[in-house]
Amino acid sequence: MTYSDLSKPIDELIKSHGLPEKEVYLDHENSGLIIPEALKAMYDAYRLSGKGHPSITHLMGWMSYQALYEATTNIALAINCSPEEIVYTHSGTEANNLAIMGSSGFSSKRKKVIVSGIEHLSVIFPAERLEKYGFKVIKAPVNGEGFVNLDFLSEHVDEETLIVSVAAVNHEIGTIQDMKAIRDIVRDKDEGVLIHTDACDAIGRIPLDMKKLDVDLASFSSHKVYGPKGAGALYVREGIKLEPIVHGQLSTQKLWPGIENMPGIIGFSKAVEIMHRNFRENVLKMTDLRERLISGILNSIDHTLLNGPFGDKRAPDNVNISFLYCEGEALTVELSMKGIYVSSGSACTSRVLEPSHVLLAIGRKYEEAHGSLLMKVSPFHTTSDIEYVLDILPGAIGRIRSLSPINP
Ligand SMILES: Cc1ncc(COP(=O)(O)O)c(C=O)c1O
Repeated sequence: MTYSDLSKPIDELIKSHGLPEKEVYLDHENSGLIIPEALKAMYDAYRLSGKGHPSITHLMGWMSYQALYEATTNIALAINCSPEEIVYTHSGTEANNLAIMGSSGFSSKRKKVIVSGIEHLSVIFPAERLEKYGFKVIKAPVNGEGFVNLDFLSEHVDEETLIVSVAAVNHEIGTIQDMKAIRDIVRDKDEGVLIHTDACDAIGRIPLDMKKLDVDLASFSSHKVYGPKGAGALYVREGIKLEPIVHGQLSTQKLWPGIENMPGIIGFSKAVEIMHRNFRENVLKMTDLRERLISGILNSIDHTLLNGPFGDKRAPDNVNISFLYCEGEALTVELSMKGIYVSSGSACTSRVLEPSHVLLAIGRKYEEAHGSLLMKVSPFHTTSDIEYVLDILPGAIGRIRSLSPINP
């Protein structure tokens, strides 16, 4: 498929959709708004030192390097690590690939990779890719709320294990894992096993301190913290050796060469700084909005199932509900017409209409996974946004259910 194949139907779709009077954007899983201060910081950086390459020795290069250093120091302060422990990539996907493939060097003596069965595909796919190089990939099962089976982990981690990767917060169902228990099990079994956490959905939602978390590698994505798209980072604990998986151009980023996305990094850093500064009030606000949305839906619409845990083991922004007898994709379009933007399953799966592997892993049936909506509240939503969604949703569900061949 080429872009020109796509452009006509997309133009027509946009035209026939029209602009809704009110809009509530709840698709922060797939991307979302940029905090205005982050956007301003990007613009200022372009103006002041946008020409420079941070590795080059002239005034513009030095200014660019200075901006890079300040941005990195800001992120390091927020997650309590040293700036030298931060490697920039251009996305969370790249950070996860670097963690998993870079730790293997493609030929480690340790040949076992353990990931939880509900990891983001940017962890699962590189792990599976390593099978080509003789690695064995084990997917640790989870229970009905998405918590990793710790006995299974304990049985399978051994001196053959290269890396264990478990996301601190699951991106689809919001499960907050007990990372301390996971880390203790792995370290008790073998001190040489690397521990990676995909923290893309943890930052800004749970307290995140690299010293306390005590893992070897952690991935971040700028747009998941309301920064710009196209910037990400991997925390690589001092002393941990990775092999680059991208080669070429000299840059300050030895593990991910190529020119740094300077405006992206500066916007990312500003967003992290603001989310860190307002952490407590943000979490309180998101939790309140999340609870209003979850209880409003479960109390007003029949045949609904909450996916993931209730209460404080759930990320403050995450709402994932299966609407039985309802096709999730059709529902996203129906809601879009009313200015409510949500996703069905995760973006990676919804485009190919595969049911989410996360929902299947927690024991949902195919039809329950297909009928799911993922909504993420943010500190920038209001209670009136949630009320609007609760007003519109029952009618939209009723319409989609009335078209379904299988009714309640
Ligand atoms: C948990 C998690 N990991 C990784 C990614 C990938 O990040 P990016 O979109 O920056 O590639 C996402 C994106 O949504 C995510 O939710």
